[in-house]
Amino acid sequence: MKATAIANSNIAFVKYWGKKDESLNIPFNPSISMTLDEKISTKTTVEFSEKYESDILILNNEKLSDNKLIRVSNFLDMIRKKSGCIYHAKVISKNTFPTGCGIASSASGFAALAAAAARASGLNLKDEELSKLARMGSGSAARSVYGGFAIWDNESATQIKDETFWPELTDIIAITDDQQKKISSREAMKITVKTSKKYRERLQKVDEKTSLMKQSILAKDFPNMAKLIMSESDNLHECMHDSVPEIEYLNENSYRIKELINEMNKEKPIAAYTFDAGPNAHIITLKKHSSKIKKELLKIFGLRLIESKIGKGIRYTEEHMI
Ligand code: DP6
Repeated sequence: MKATAIANSNIAFVKYWGKKDESLNIPFNPSISMTLDEKISTKTTVEFSEKYESDILILNNEKLSDNKLIRVSNFLDMIRKKSGCIYHAKVISKNTFPTGCGIASSASGFAALAAAAARASGLNLKDEELSKLARMGSGSAARSVYGGFAIWDNESATQIKDETFWPELTDIIAITDDQQKKISSREAMKITVKTSKKYRERLQKVDEKTSLMKQSILAKDFPNMAKLIMSESDNLHECMHDSVPEIEYLNENSYRIKELINEMNKEKPIAAYTFDAGPNAHIITLKKHSSKIKKELLKIFGLRLIESKIGKGIRYTEEHMI
């Protein structure tokens, strides 16, 4: 009972921040994302077998026994319950992006785990069911089930358009800091929900923002989409700053990148910056502008760049790692 799945990470244009239901991972607001390519992906093999006396997790060649194992084990319990499988599992998982480069892996990680574990346990789930399951591991993983653009509201995500719809789009990831985050997004969003007044205002406007974002994607209206992406990222980080204690994920280089993109957008928007719960920038642009932007970014001291195209949803392979 073994299966291997690959899932790519995604970058949110409208961000998920805050849970209506913490135990079920139901978000306060809808979110929209673009799935990234195989450069930013996780490959996971799961084997359920009577030979294992407890769950085993090996992540990027390292055997883990901390909170990460507990989180994965709890997730596997859900699958065992759903499938009737009674065995423990060995999980081997590898990210394609460098470990500790500051790129979050919970979206690709839990999407790949959900797919591999479900299949290994004998479940045959449709994308919507898989998305629900992935969501229980990590909210943003609900969207990584699909290629192209996905929207997540409530229990599961759905696809807006697949990866062939707008192939000119690209994401230049500028790594400004390769350290682990000081505070996890899970903890930080709780603080924002509890303490930020601006967050309450955000919630009143975010549905409209989501529908405008969706329209701009469907119309392939880059300038409008770029403006929306940047104002959304700014709004989220304003809410973080407004939290008590204040949450600051951005560093000096993040702010330099914002200035640079604003400068380059003076005549008309050619790129959009967006930041998740970390200082690394995602610069969404069209391929024709990519080399010019990368050249400018590299003038900022110490940046490392990874470029990702729009990518595919979950897929399976027979190349197991166990
Ligand atoms: C800023 O999906 O990591 O990246 O559900 O608690 O695991 P949990 O949170 P997570 O939060 C992602 C937050 C974000 C925005 C986004 O991807 O939508």
